[in-house]
Amino acid sequence: MINYVTAGESHGPQLTGILTGLPAGLTLDIDAINAGLAARQGGFGRGNRQQIEHDVVTVTGGLRHGVTLGSPLALTIQNRDHAHWSAIMNPTSPATAENTLRQVTRPRPGHADLVGGMKYGHRDLRNVLERSSARETAMRVAIGQICKQLLAQLKIQLVGYVQQIGTITVDDAASLSVEALTTAITANDLRIADQQQVAAIHDLITTTKKAGDTLGGVIRVVATNVPAGLGSYTNWDTKLDGQLAAAVMGVNAMKGVEIGDGFAAAGRYGSQVMDEIDWHADTGWSRLTNHLGGFEGGMTNGMPIIIKAAMKPIPTLYKPLQSVDIQTKAVQKASVERSDTTAIVPASIVVESVVAIELVKALTATFDGSNLARLQATLAAYRSELQAY
Ligand SMILES: Cc1cc2nc3c(=O)[nH]c(=O)nc-3n(C[C@H](O)[C@H](O)[C@H](O)COP(=O)(O)O)c2cc1C
Repeated sequence: MINYVTAGESHGPQLTGILTGLPAGLTLDIDAINAGLAARQGGFGRGNRQQIEHDVVTVTGGLRHGVTLGSPLALTIQNRDHAHWSAIMNPTSPATAENTLRQVTRPRPGHADLVGGMKYGHRDLRNVLERSSARETAMRVAIGQICKQLLAQLKIQLVGYVQQIGTITVDDAASLSVEALTTAITANDLRIADQQQVAAIHDLITTTKKAGDTLGGVIRVVATNVPAGLGSYTNWDTKLDGQLAAAVMGVNAMKGVEIGDGFAAAGRYGSQVMDEIDWHADTGWSRLTNHLGGFEGGMTNGMPIIIKAAMKPIPTLYKPLQSVDIQTKAVQKASVERSDTTAIVPASIVVESVVAIELVKALTATFDGSNLARLQATLAAYRSELQAY
């Protein structure tokens, strides 16, 4: 089964990622990974940091002549901004009066600052914010885009995009295929499917920025051609919908996760929510509708996986809220670090990436993932077996 860990601070020298359990024989498209990283840096409503960084991934282990070896994949992404922080964020030089400037002592509401300081005993909250910053999600995107490439080799497609920004809900693109959705959302800088709503959302973001305020939104991920039977009903912690919810909630600023109709299903009759079962010799088993978002009993049922995530507004406000200085205990305005007005656009790539990772985790937990060709053959045989069931 694949697994991964990331390391690195926002203004430290680099981000590092180790991905284990990837099959041997996968040809990595490094340009496509970098395109995912560029998409995470884009989007209307971002702060200045993105103009400094030009994220590219470097692979330093687990790859030979562009093909995975089955050994741990070692990845790095440089933080260009480190050049401006090389003394303050130096990993090894001892602390001095000069290199401990820009201390953070006024925790920002909605951030990890205060509780992280309390828990780890830091008196400079920079030690917390440097790691709790969403800069780390760049590495999750690199790993997720590699998993997306593996999924494509297994004929599974997925895309994450924006469905709501602040109060504006974008016209539902639920009927579009992953391919059509990808074309539609890459035609604008909001990753929304309806081009007609771009101008109104730009206005909303610009007005919000002028007011020193921030916005959240809703992300939708759809994954198609996922085989039935990933995850298991046999124990609570083997349910794949639960694992996906945890991974999505593990993305910075996510406050809600829905599968299929989610919270709306709670207010409907059972007859309006359960998806009736169908079978055809050429296509096998399906459901007539997909209110349950591709899951029954914690297992994929072969229908498209539909996951939505609610992102809270960005916590750093240029018109800061009340805080208390941890040194003086005086009531003061919270610190301001360079920040986005909304990060719903990059967050949609991050959420897409973590869903891709969890799907590959489930696939490699279910089938032997040592070698890509064998995994493809095993999965093809499994799909045929299910069709005839
Ligand atoms: C892609 C992305 C970019 C983000 N950018 C910012 C930002 O510029 N400023 C900020 O205060 N929070 C930003 N956030 C949100 C914070 O990282 C997050 O709210 C904070 O770490 C606290 O974690 P929690 O919201 O999960 O409790 C961003 C989140 C994501 C996913």
